[in-house]
Amino acid sequence: MYRSHTCGELRITDVNKQVQLSGWVQTSRNFGELLFLDVRDRYGITQIVFNNNTNNLLFDRAKRLGREFVIQAEGTVVERSNKNPKNPTGDIEILVSDVRILSESKTPPFTIENETDGGDDIRMQYRYLDLRRNEVQEKIIFRHKVGHEVRTYLNTNGFLDIETPFLIKSTPEGARDFVVPSRMNPGQFYALPQSPQTFKQLLMVSGFDKYYQITRCFRDEDLRADRQPEFTQIDCEMAFVEQEDILNMFEGLIKHVFKTVKGIELGGDFPRMQYDDAMRIYGSDKPDIRFGMEFIEMNDLVKGKGFGVFDNAELVIGINAENAAEYTRKQLDELTDFVKRPQIGATGLIYLRYNNDGTLKSSVDKFYNEDELKLWAEKAGMKQGDLLLVLCGNTDKVRKQMNELRLEMGNRLGLRKKDDFKPLWVLDFPLLEFIEEDNRWFAMHHPFTSPKKEDIDFLYTDPARVRADAYDLAINGVEVGGGSIRIYDKGLQAEMFKRLGFTDEEAQKQFGFLMNAFEYGAPPHGGLAFGFDRLCAVLNSVETIRDFIAFPKNNSGRDVMLDSPSTIDEKQMKELNIKTTL
Ligand code: AMO
Repeated sequence: MYRSHTCGELRITDVNKQVQLSGWVQTSRNFGELLFLDVRDRYGITQIVFNNNTNNLLFDRAKRLGREFVIQAEGTVVERSNKNPKNPTGDIEILVSDVRILSESKTPPFTIENETDGGDDIRMQYRYLDLRRNEVQEKIIFRHKVGHEVRTYLNTNGFLDIETPFLIKSTPEGARDFVVPSRMNPGQFYALPQSPQTFKQLLMVSGFDKYYQITRCFRDEDLRADRQPEFTQIDCEMAFVEQEDILNMFEGLIKHVFKTVKGIELGGDFPRMQYDDAMRIYGSDKPDIRFGMEFIEMNDLVKGKGFGVFDNAELVIGINAENAAEYTRKQLDELTDFVKRPQIGATGLIYLRYNNDGTLKSSVDKFYNEDELKLWAEKAGMKQGDLLLVLCGNTDKVRKQMNELRLEMGNRLGLRKKDDFKPLWVLDFPLLEFIEEDNRWFAMHHPFTSPKKEDIDFLYTDPARVRADAYDLAINGVEVGGGSIRIYDKGLQAEMFKRLGFTDEEAQKQFGFLMNAFEYGAPPHGGLAFGFDRLCAVLNSVETIRDFIAFPKNNSGRDVMLDSPSTIDEKQMKELNIKTTL
């Protein structure tokens, strides 16, 4: 037996017990006659003590135990004279009667403590050591808990966990595929799934009317804090449902997770917002509604007064940053630099201060008199002490820019509170979006999404106007999930592919299996997928999903521990009939 207890378990009530502990040496402190070791495992840290006066041989052995050695110690639980209230085991220590080295350790490349001296790269290279750190372990354990509760909820509600393949077929929609060469089929490739979308729809055709899977998805796209090339979805689908059924079921899932994992009751129904309104009011399809600062459209107030920048702009919008009128010149310059950054791309920033003495001061005083500025302040609902920030330009662009500025101001003014969780369903996304570069329409969600019945007639006359039965769930400005009601009629699905620029042959070649399945009795169905990694991050109010993944990739899509991707040897290349052009 290696251990009678874990390193997080023993308390004052255990005094006098004979125990065995196993774990890693976190620290060693030698005071001449007494030597203390902190022994760590995933449950906690227990102090063990060696006494030179009572056992000299053992004391000498203890001196050899370095950081990260794996040891087994046997001894008696004793009350500590110098208690440590910060540690749950801090009232006791183990007076060691025997110790054994189970495994030696080189000096680790960084300290394995919450406050580590290791930079990002080195910690990723030695991820197995990084994962020993308490705060990193906690995130992985947190993820496990979320997964457990997700399964509990879905199992209780009659969902079946069904696996779908990883080696599938490359499809032209969505992000880029990761592909895998087939040795047995020379010159041919599988693709790794970007999601199990078509399989879950086929499972509905097969009659498994409630499906889920917590599964890996693979997308070869540019990485960001909330994106990994392989990530995990809580993927779900239901048959014989309408949008309302889906929203209710998965609102229940999110409430269950918040309650069981965080102890937070998300009371009442989640608010819902039309996509068009979200874009108009917040410039985002995933608005953070923890704070207001809604967009104020100002065209009617600002145009025709001789200020060319506004006159030539399609849209002029403002946000009222409450209690920010005292912003200094320097702070305003910083904000201007912020919106001018290439990622945001605004040309400038106009402001109006409503000073505490009741006067108004703007950066465009030359063009607007006091009465006109008063109207701005009125429309924006400003009170004394508020600051109006104004951007202008092309409608879509300026809304996106203002979204960035609004979030930045939300951060600066402390309005995005970490312990405040505000979910929002965003509904009725457009079905299609026109991509200039390719000069064609693309499915905004995916090509299997059903158009709203009342909009089908616009598919050819005014495609931008067709709304989809599609929905996203945003929490605190993060898209944690999304889905749609699907097309289940072969004719409409064929029509959709045609609209997306596929010829009948191309559609048949790519998606024949699905369209054929629809000829054998397809039930109405719909579903959604949550980003599991993202949900974990949002529940912890952090941006990066990497911490919740045991072995993540870095921003260049590399696994620095494995040093992958890497070249493969000639023999493998030959077997796969592959040559690189490099
Ligand atoms: P979608 O593409 O919107 O929908 O993905 C669903 C959710 O997955 C998460 N997500 C990601 N998380 C981390 N890294 C990524 N690269 C990444 N990409 C997406 C997001 C997103 O909301 N098959 C459809 C779902 C459906 O219609 O049922 C789908 O994949 O949180």
